[in-house]
Amino acid sequence: MKKHNVTSLLKMKQAHEKIVALTAYDASFAQLFDQQNVEVILIGDSLGMVLKGQEDTLSVSVKDIAYHTRCVRAGAKKAFVIADMPFMSYPDANSAYKNAATLIRSGASMVKLEGGEWLLNTVAGLVERSVPVCGHLGLTPQSVHVLGGFKVQGREQNQAEKLINEALALEAAGIQLLVLECVPSSLAKLISEKLTIPVIGIGAGPHTDGQILVMHDMLGVSANYMPKFSKNYLNATGSISGSVKQYISEVKSQTFPGPEHSFD
Ligand code: KIV
Ligand code: NA
Repeated sequence: MKKHNVTSLLKMKQAHEKIVALTAYDASFAQLFDQQNVEVILIGDSLGMVLKGQEDTLSVSVKDIAYHTRCVRAGAKKAFVIADMPFMSYPDANSAYKNAATLIRSGASMVKLEGGEWLLNTVAGLVERSVPVCGHLGLTPQSVHVLGGFKVQGREQNQAEKLINEALALEAAGIQLLVLECVPSSLAKLISEKLTIPVIGIGAGPHTDGQILVMHDMLGVSANYMPKFSKNYLNATGSISGSVKQYISEVKSQTFPGPEHSFD
């Protein structure tokens, strides 16, 4: 089995094969996920919540992500590895270049940034400088205090139109993957159809090109609360490797996420 890359992931979208993604923060879980053929592993700034026990992702630093990226890289042989750019590590293009370089040198093959319109120049600049970029739209947790909480986004017509336009603009600027978080299933479906690149959903319904969950949520062991869009696979299967197998099979067969994990 060959290593995944942006081309293999794009081919999966074209072949209508769902992409399975999980977060990981260390070599042992990265290796377990990798061996079970999880295609994408994200070192998420969710580590602020699930590793550090904070209420949000805002305390996470580039140093934190770089450390966990080195750990994950050591365990992941085939999976495509993406690292989150944490809060305020890309306020302008030059800071983004410098911090992205740190994460790429730590072993990430792509970096993920939260935001739309305001980020277009930075995204284009990163791609021109050979850094692959994953976008992140919808509920962007780094903006939790601007949004007034962790809430579903894009329910109103004008918000939905803005999201569609931002997704298209990010694709034009050069992103090669997009994460859509907590948006109505119908909107996520529309965006997935409009974009050529793969769209990975979380709380975005079953119609995106792939799914991602925070590993602690998927195992039901998160320190804080369990989001509605996640599923406790450890409860369902009784083992960690069984959980990963079941998650993969439910994403591939489009039985996860069900209506109870999705938003209208
Ligand atoms: O930080 C994270 O884990 C993420 C995923 C939930 C997409 O950004
Ligand atoms: Na994140």
